[in-house]
Amino acid sequence: MIKYEIITSCKDVDFNQVSEILNYYGLSEFDSKIQKKVFANSYAVVFLKNGEQIIGVGRAISDGICQAQLCNVAVRDKYTGMGLGKVIIDNLLNQVKGCTVVLYTHPKHKGLYEHWGFSKMKTAYAIYNDEEHYRKEGFID
Ligand SMILES: CC(C)(COP(=O)(O)OP(=O)(O)OC[C@H]1O[C@@H](n2cnc3c(N)ncnc32)[C@H](O)[C@@H]1OP(=O)(O)O)[C@@H](O)C(=O)NCCC(=O)NCCS
Repeated sequence: MIKYEIITSCKDVDFNQVSEILNYYGLSEFDSKIQKKVFANSYAVVFLKNGEQIIGVGRAISDGICQAQLCNVAVRDKYTGMGLGKVIIDNLLNQVKGCTVVLYTHPKHKGLYEHWGFSKMKTAYAIYNDEEHYRKEGFID
């Protein structure tokens, strides 16, 4: 079993590594400076660290009372399939306990979130800032 530390603050986090993981999966194109702002402005953050290496990340935007959205959940390629994604999700859900929690994911991960107890929404709407891209990827009709 892999050893890791769970960090729930942005203090002392190496955002070069955070950007690297998110850019690798195409979840974000931001550089480390902007990524730091994105996470610092989030209600809840999670970083999994194995020594100095960040091996998993995730964040939630929320009012902390009733509504929350999970974003940017990712585990370094080498460490997937070991339960770390679930650790990140569970930690974020715990930090926004009591809230209705929504997320959108890539179509290829739909089954995964159902496996983790999320229900598919029937009335969700979005305005994407790059609509064509998201249409092509299968996020919207
Ligand atoms: C999605 C991601 C975070 C999952 O992390 P992970 O550490 O591999 O996930 P875990 O090992 O905790 O959990 C995998 C579990 O889901 C199951 N699973 C995986 N894919 C599945 C699918 N498509 N349908 C149903 N179940 C699935 C596995 O069998 C496993 O089940 P178990 O917990 O009962 O053993 C990781 O693959 C990743 O970073 N992907 C790229 C980034 C990304 O697309 N993130 C999602 C953006 S919202």
